[in-house]
Amino acid sequence: MKIVMLGAPGAGKGTQADRIAESYELPHISTGDIFRKNISEGTELGKEAKSYMDKGALVPDELTIRMLLDRVGADDCGRGYILDGFPRTIPQAEALDEELGKIGEKIDYAIDVEVPDEDIINRMSGRRACPKCQAIYHIAYIPPKKDGICDQCGAELIIRDDDKPETVRKRLQVYHEQTQPLIDFYRKKGVLHTVDGTRDADEVFSDVKGILG
Ligand code: AP5
Repeated sequence: MKIVMLGAPGAGKGTQADRIAESYELPHISTGDIFRKNISEGTELGKEAKSYMDKGALVPDELTIRMLLDRVGADDCGRGYILDGFPRTIPQAEALDEELGKIGEKIDYAIDVEVPDEDIINRMSGRRACPKCQAIYHIAYIPPKKDGICDQCGAELIIRDDDKPETVRKRLQVYHEQTQPLIDFYRKKGVLHTVDGTRDADEVFSDVKGILG
């Protein structure tokens, strides 16, 4: 089962991908998380990615595609995976299709989590993330049991560098220009499913389960 999560920054792709990963026992692959891990480890990839991420821009396709194809070739991806934040441009989607085509496979589901721009800024300002296990919280909607502490691993939660309102606005602009065309790309392939992401995260997940079976 190969799943692509689509949606604007902050729509809840990561939140839903975590739940799918747990229920269906599939790896959750987030290109944003891979970049952030490299940034915290000070790798060359991290240094290059940070210069784009801090501005709310996309990391160049060439770098991102190479990194992702490498990751999906790992042993734990044999039964499938959930891609969160990839593809984000048509060239990325085409590169993925080409690679899957070589082994006679394809993306089975593209799930678009729809949330209007007005709701996004509010969500991002309340987001808290775990730098250790990547769990995602919201101070009002999905709070941790103990203020500022990750329920799953006990690490101190952080605010992401790119969650400042001016960077979020730029990310939304980039999303509409470069990523939204992927909705039509996957619709034409007959694998697109849309869920209303404005409701409670559990309700959204119940729709997702209805799609995946
Ligand atoms: P990335 O980390 O992928 O960020 P994003 O796509 O902008 O998405 P987010 O992680 O911000 O949001 P999300 O949709 O996962 O929402 P979440 O579940 O956290 O990418 C960051 C950067 O890396 C990019 O800007 C780019 O520079 C670079 N990059 C990454 N991939 C790339 C690629 N392929 N190519 C080029 N560059 C790339 O939820 C958001 C908040 O809302 C949380 O607080 C959550 O608790 C809350 N929430 C979730 N669901 C609900 C709900 N139903 N109701 C209320 N609150 C909710």
